[in-house]
Amino acid sequence: MGPQQPQKQPIPGVKNLIAVGSGKGGVGKTTLSVNLAISLARLGMRTGLLDADVYGPNVPLMMGINEAPRAIGERIVPLESYGVKLMSMGFLNPGDKALIWRGPRLHGVMSQFLFSVEWGELDYLLIDLPPGTGDVQLSLIQTAAMTGAVVVTTPSEVALEDARKAIDMFQQVRVPILGMIENMSYLEHPELKTPLDLFGRGGGKRAAQAMGVAFLGELALDPQIRIGGDTGKPVSSQGKGNSAFEEIAKRLMARSDEARGARKTTIVMEE
Ligand SMILES: Nc1ncnc2c1ncn2[C@@H]1O[C@H](COP(=O)(O)OP(=O)(O)OP(=O)(O)O)[C@@H](O)[C@H]1O
Ligand SMILES: [Mg+2]
Repeated sequence: MGPQQPQKQPIPGVKNLIAVGSGKGGVGKTTLSVNLAISLARLGMRTGLLDADVYGPNVPLMMGINEAPRAIGERIVPLESYGVKLMSMGFLNPGDKALIWRGPRLHGVMSQFLFSVEWGELDYLLIDLPPGTGDVQLSLIQTAAMTGAVVVTTPSEVALEDARKAIDMFQQVRVPILGMIENMSYLEHPELKTPLDLFGRGGGKRAAQAMGVAFLGELALDPQIRIGGDTGKPVSSQGKGNSAFEEIAKRLMARSDEARGARKTTIVMEE
């Protein structure tokens, strides 16, 4: 048995609540969250993105928006960019001032982000988690009823070692793993157009198989992805979008449907 399970609440109006996590920092969670959210919106899904990285909120920069959100009474109105509803600590604490909150205050703000933001009717609400298996992650996944989690890794063994810990954390608190995504899988040689395997190749897929979790796809290390993030114009928002992100978004949709189906079956069986 894992830690004691408090009652988890669904967010009214939100069909799928999905956490994007990793063990190791800097593997591309925010990049993926932003591009997957935009891809889901482009596929016609009503989508939101909650930036749960209170200490290093990068979603405003990557989504090209940073304004103070409006409040209506006790409710906060999310901002919107590229068709995605957004909430981030960066909107409330702009600039380079560090937040030094801990424990209960952190828990309070997470629960406000989930339950006091006017998310409205959403098909998908993605949560961009900070790296690791700390307070914020636990606070969120123990407060809200998650459809499941996606774990991002790079192919290197150090990233995979930490990804396995992240998967174990989600499993201990009974959050289904929707799948693993391998980012920065390879770099395309600029002239030969052949893949250069900077961090080794295929480690994410092998690790997913070994742990019995789905593999949702791999993404190349691509300077355009980095530039898109740094300039607030994510590649998925450009022209026809980015097909690699769109493929992963479609697999994520299919896995979410399965996970929700499985949860209903479990509830019926337990009754
Ligand atoms: N596939 C990619 N190709 C090129 N650059 C990438 C790719 N994925 C991420 N990056 C870049 O790598 C850096 C780290 O990515 P990102 O901030 O998304 O990681 P993170 O896992 O959210 O980090 P943290 O753990 O600090 O929250 C960013 O500058 C981002 O633009
Ligand atoms: Mg991040």
